[in-house]
Amino acid sequence: MHEIERAATVVTALAKGLRPRVGLILGSGLGGIADAIEGAVSIGYGELPGFTVGKVSGHAGRLILGRLAGMPVACLSGRAHLYEGTPVQAIRVPVRTLKKIGCDTLIVTNAAGACRRDLAPGSLMLIADHINMTGMSPLVGPDDGAFGPRFPSLEGAYDPALRARLLDLARRMDVPLREGVYLACLGPNYETPAEIRAFASLGADAVGMSTVPEVIVARHCGLRVAAVSVITNAGAGLSETPVAHDRVLDVAAEGGAHLARLLTVFLAELMTAS
Ligand code: HPA
Repeated sequence: MHEIERAATVVTALAKGLRPRVGLILGSGLGGIADAIEGAVSIGYGELPGFTVGKVSGHAGRLILGRLAGMPVACLSGRAHLYEGTPVQAIRVPVRTLKKIGCDTLIVTNAAGACRRDLAPGSLMLIADHINMTGMSPLVGPDDGAFGPRFPSLEGAYDPALRARLLDLARRMDVPLREGVYLACLGPNYETPAEIRAFASLGADAVGMSTVPEVIVARHCGLRVAAVSVITNAGAGLSETPVAHDRVLDVAAEGGAHLARLLTVFLAELMTAS
């Protein structure tokens, strides 16, 4: 609890009275949404106890507070990944800090590869459920009952009401959005064609290296979660060209523009709905 309380104290002291309601975690190449935050207060992770982030390009490593479409938000721009060898603590602390500073909802975005040919690069997928193939849970370790139960349920982890709202909004805004299952791998290598075929047969629609650990921590401490993938590439073996990180970032930036529009209006509607 100690680190989280200290991080929350730093954030609250710098927040100029703003009490964030929605936490945002932005994926590779999707940091642009953070640029639209008004009255932004930006805090480097170095100033926050327990916050660490690797040096993968596209990950900035700042907590940005402010308003997006009127909604008070706290945006984690830059995230720790298990493939960096960081301890699970580096994933737990930022998410629990969001809860501690007052957020009740977490919106997560990521870049992902498609396991199906009909999910085109540049399209958006609303995550309906996940398969955890990282071989790890971020809750492994001594039980800390201060945050949530020892054996949390992950049924309905991707909040059904938020999903219904997002689907309805996307339809009204004419932004193509389909639901699917996200499968998380440890990385950092991309998958083999055999793995992509296997994942598809297991029920995965998209594959990536993030999101699932954060969602598990968020559900454990009672945050409502919505998550959207920007499909950046066909999974290994589904296209002529092998997956490349630079291309992933480029396509994420393109698809990210639609996602930014969608999430901005979503936050405005969420603000007036409650
Ligand atoms: N595999 C895993 N992670 C990814 C991919 C992929 O094809 N694309 C973007 N992140």
